[in-house]
Amino acid sequence: MKIYAGCDHGGLLLKKTLIRRLVELGHQVEDLGTNSENSCDYSDFAHAVALKILADPGAKGILTCGSGIGISIAANRHAGIRAALCHNSLEATLARQHNDANVLVMGGRLVGEAMAVDILEKFFSTSFDGGRHQARIEKIEINPERQAN
Ligand code: RB5
Repeated sequence: MKIYAGCDHGGLLLKKTLIRRLVELGHQVEDLGTNSENSCDYSDFAHAVALKILADPGAKGILTCGSGIGISIAANRHAGIRAALCHNSLEATLARQHNDANVLVMGGRLVGEAMAVDILEKFFSTSFDGGRHQARIEKIEINPERQAN
């Protein structure tokens, strides 16, 4: 399974740490930038990662920005992307088990390195539970013909 990685300047250091750990664990990672500390716009990297995942079934992603908030909002604008902003490993486990999250998001200015690596390991070692959660994730996508309920 391929993992696409993206960040802005606020998430650069954390993204590098996460990529290093993923490679150690034997994952194949493609880094889509940024790779500079110069100020840039998180949406550009969220969209780049989202489009790669949507074109590569089964792929997942990691995204980081300063808080993790902007980059997760941008990624989640893509139908089929379920980006989960996680602050602890329980959230990472639940994001996979219940939400089949395909992008892990963290805030480089908010999460310590040891916690971030723990979150990463949980996210990429936990499977989707399926069952009742399958219908729920299908209802996330907006069907224009559907009435509110
Ligand atoms: C950049 O300064 C910062 O706004 C960005 O990394 C992120 O935290 C936005 O949500």
